Amino acid sequence: MSEIRDISLAPSGEKKIAWARRYMPLLRSVEEDFKKDKPFAGLKMTVSLHLEAKSAVLCRVLMEGGADLRITGCNPLSTQDDVTAALVSRGAEVWSVYGCTPEEYDRHMAEALSFGPHIVIDDGGDLVSMLHRSMRSLLPGVIGGCEETTTGVIRLHAMEREGALRFPMLTVNDARCKHFFDNRYGTGQSVWDGINRATNLVVAGKDVVVAGYGWCGRGIAMRAKGLGARVTVTEVDPVKALEAMMDGYEVKTMDEAAGYGDVFVTSTGCNKVITERHFEKMKDGAIACNAGHFNVEVDVEWLEKHAVSTSEGRTSVTKGYTLENGRTIFVLAEGRLVNLASGDGHPVEIMDMSFAIQALAARYIADHRDSLPCSVINVPDEIDFDVARRKLRASGMTIDTLSEEQRSYLNSWAL
Ligand SMILES: NC(=O)c1ccc[n+]([C@@H]2O[C@H](COP(=O)([O-])OP(=O)(O)OC[C@H]3O[C@@H](n4cnc5c(N)ncnc54)[C@H](O)[C@@H]3O)[C@@H](O)[C@H]2O)c1
Repeated sequence: MSEIRDISLAPSGEKKIAWARRYMPLLRSVEEDFKKDKPFAGLKMTVSLHLEAKSAVLCRVLMEGGADLRITGCNPLSTQDDVTAALVSRGAEVWSVYGCTPEEYDRHMAEALSFGPHIVIDDGGDLVSMLHRSMRSLLPGVIGGCEETTTGVIRLHAMEREGALRFPMLTVNDARCKHFFDNRYGTGQSVWDGINRATNLVVAGKDVVVAGYGWCGRGIAMRAKGLGARVTVTEVDPVKALEAMMDGYEVKTMDEAAGYGDVFVTSTGCNKVITERHFEKMKDGAIACNAGHFNVEVDVEWLEKHAVSTSEGRTSVTKGYTLENGRTIFVLAEGRLVNLASGDGHPVEIMDMSFAIQALAARYIADHRDSLPCSVINVPDEIDFDVARRKLRASGMTIDTLSEEQRSYLNSWAL
């Protein structure tokens, strides 16, 4: 059983998956190990990810490892219908359709969970939240799960603080081989790809305002600068604000930046970062978009209620809101993740690392099913190092090794 848009789209999805797989040597090497060891034999797994070619490669690797897999999306605008068709045509069970309603989104997730998974792979926390809120009878069967992104990890810590979490969750996002590369270089590149596809406008010479100077914000600002923009950063953390200043950016409040920005990109994980009072100051033709997990950073709800008229911009993902002051502000992709809703998400090689961590973390849960505490758990360093070594090998790079003398020097206090 599956629910997707149209199975006849499979050949196009298959081409995208083959292209991604070709540039994912780490996942291919993990797949070889999984084929031999079948770490997930007898285990049911529910996966909720942005469903495009790279996550499809991961799903097939998990299936090669013996998992009985059910797959669903983690955002209504990031599912690629040709990719889900390709997955289903090769025997996967998928519930996800691009552009689904919030009710359909929840129903798809519930279907993907209903067989009672042993392991869950989540991106943003909706799957784990649904299990704990409305599908509690399935909780005892879950041996553990993995969380892909910052926002999901924040939600897990909130659950743990309240004593609500009922199974072990590994924070894949916090592995160094994930957020050092995916959040920074992945988001940095793919956000500009998404903005450029949606707008076809030049970046050089523009005033770009990046809200949030965390892992994603650093990458978005760095690539905007590289494309020739003047970059302003807004922050709430004084240390990150100083870091942005030392990296060569203007640091302002959103109230100050609202009046001169040409393009605004939010990546904070927080809500209402750009809201009423900012919209009212913005220039005619200003563009706002979001790279954070949920569509709450740009207050699209306010615009929907208060714009005197709306219009479709260049593409269906560019919507114009004309305010009482006569100015029009454009919002990309309904304020959802612009790199996924208006592009193909992170570059393939970046997701090769992130998903190698996912696959190995899922294996870690299967291998340690009887000994993991029911809490939020860091991905063990051995997995981070394993993925880093695989990446170095695949890139043809070698590094030095400490000699015994050096090791004892580094471990000694009486120099
Ligand atoms: N688009 C993608 O593909 C992608 C990839 C990875 C992560 N994410 C998501 O992006 C978001 C950010 O992730 P991250 O890893 O950079 O997190 P992070 O915690 O490293 O950075 C977030 C930054 O935003 C700042 N901030 C919080 N509220 C703010 C506000 N109101 N105004 C200005 N700054 C504010 C914080 O101080 C922090 O420095 C999360 O929602 C995460 O899930 C998206």
